Amino acid sequence: MLTTFSLLISATAAMISCHAAMCAGAPPASSTQYWITQPVDHFGGAGGATWQQQYLVNATFYRPGGPIYVSTPGESPVSARYIDNSHFTLLAQRTSGLLVTLEHRYFGVSNPMPDLSGASLQFLTIENALADFAAFIRAAKRTPSSVFPIPVVANAQVIFGGGSYSGNIAAWMRARYPDLVLGSWASSAIVYGRLQNYQFDQSFGRHLAQVGCAQRVSQAVSDVDAILLSNNSTQLASMQAKFGIPALSASDSAGLLAALITTYSMAPVTTAGDYVESRVCSFFGNASIKATDAYAAAIRSTIQQAGLTQQALVQIGNSSLGIDNYELGQVNRVWYYMSCTWFGNWQIAPPRWTQLKSYRSQLVNMAYFQTNCRKKFGSRIPVPVDVEAYNRKWFNSLRGVSNVFYTGGALDIWRDTTITTSYGNILQPARGSSIVLIEGATHAQDLGADSPGDLASVRRARSLGDALVSRWLA
Ligand SMILES: *[C@@H]1O[C@H](CO)[C@@H](O)[C@H](O)[C@H]1NC(C)=O
Ligand SMILES: *[C@@H]1O[C@H](CO)[C@@H](O)[C@H](O)[C@H]1NC(C)=O
Ligand SMILES: *[C@@H]1O[C@H](CO)[C@@H](O)[C@H](O)[C@H]1NC(C)=O
Ligand SMILES: *[C@@H]1O[C@H](CO)[C@@H](O)[C@H](O)[C@H]1NC(C)=O
Ligand SMILES: *[C@@H]1O[C@H](CO)[C@@H](O)[C@H](O)[C@H]1NC(C)=O
Repeated sequence: MLTTFSLLISATAAMISCHAAMCAGAPPASSTQYWITQPVDHFGGAGGATWQQQYLVNATFYRPGGPIYVSTPGESPVSARYIDNSHFTLLAQRTSGLLVTLEHRYFGVSNPMPDLSGASLQFLTIENALADFAAFIRAAKRTPSSVFPIPVVANAQVIFGGGSYSGNIAAWMRARYPDLVLGSWASSAIVYGRLQNYQFDQSFGRHLAQVGCAQRVSQAVSDVDAILLSNNSTQLASMQAKFGIPALSASDSAGLLAALITTYSMAPVTTAGDYVESRVCSFFGNASIKATDAYAAAIRSTIQQAGLTQQALVQIGNSSLGIDNYELGQVNRVWYYMSCTWFGNWQIAPPRWTQLKSYRSQLVNMAYFQTNCRKKFGSRIPVPVDVEAYNRKWFNSLRGVSNVFYTGGALDIWRDTTITTSYGNILQPARGSSIVLIEGATHAQDLGADSPGDLASVRRARSLGDALVSRWLA
């Protein structure tokens, strides 16, 4: 593989152009912030207004002729770790590549509008988000000196990568802009929308079953539901005291417990262990301790480990808080907007008709989530969101697309919204594309930096991906 890669470094120095002041010396620190001007609406709206999108660059491994690895942290703010400390960093090192990570519109400090009101969020469309990345890549190819601090050869090959929601972006970028993006690495991409995503709860249950406590967790959840559904405020208060959670309503308590019990569900499983086993299941191992008491101990321990104050728990759990708060910097609000208007994916308990065991309260249902869509974003928000239309447009756009590497973990809590669902792959890989299920792994583990504790299955997935990337580049 290394020899294939070294053949790529064949471009001539004459092709390099760069701003004179930027040409000399060592590459700037990867924490240096750069900004590209983008239209608020790439499709003619917003009166031609513009905003600044942040990105970071690691040019340490770049040699003229090397590819550009573009990523986005999706709903997270950009940080140097996406370019300095991911599997892509190793790929760039092996292929003399340049690493770039761009913030996604409306997240981090990359805000097209001055607030997060429903009206301001109307420009949060998939088309606009993809067009931002496309505009950057176009500039990177045509006029590299306009975006990079070091000389970069024009028309470099671009590989796009991302995990979880940003894995969607990676796959969609290859589908929509095949002339700009040579290939994409889409790890645990949540490309298949589900209005009622009770499969999220069931995936957690499968993980619990694997580490031996699914039965007792679901028993505990059902015992606590007897209290939550009783309308008895005395019983609710003593349950809250026992679990160490604030005096929220029954349904907000239910939502908070669901969030807390799944805290470790996306932590990587390594040869050193599995956090769902050591920090959740371990509390349920003693049969002489009642399931509810074990549940309470697990929740109290999570609160303590995560250093969550009662005030922080109110912030997480009180769903009436912040309905009218339009301030920038609220990740959950922006994600909620995407759920209300794009893909649903409401993480509900399995509806009773499914007769499935549940690992979250029955009160965490569609009413719990959906009523907030209009309260938060206004009466123009369609309820329920048309997930069928989303899938017809965005899931179907991935059919027949070449050069996409999809991965998914067998223990991924998001698994049934990825290509590698628990009942099989829901897409046929096209030419140059491949789909790999990573046994024993959780969410987007292959994108992490290579480390000695990696599972063999994770290593295998990465080397399959590396081989595919080298084929695309060849
Ligand atoms: C790029 O990432 C590598 C690997 O983590 C790191 O050693 C290097 O310092 C980074 N480059 C810059 C310019 O920060
Ligand atoms: C609790 O209150 C709800 C809503 O008022 C009602 O539908 C439900 O039947 C009550 N449950 C019990 C056990 O009384
Ligand atoms: C609520 O529960 C407490 C404790 O179990 C019980 O003593 C009380 O009678 C219940 N209240 C009602 C209205 O059922
Ligand atoms: C939840 O938020 C609402 C709206 O701000 C507030 O009225 C209520 O007191 C809060 N409840 C708790 C338990 O903090
Ligand atoms: C199980 O819990 C009981 C009651 O708290 C305790 O006496 C016993 O030592 C525990 N057993 C183990 C193996 O930890």
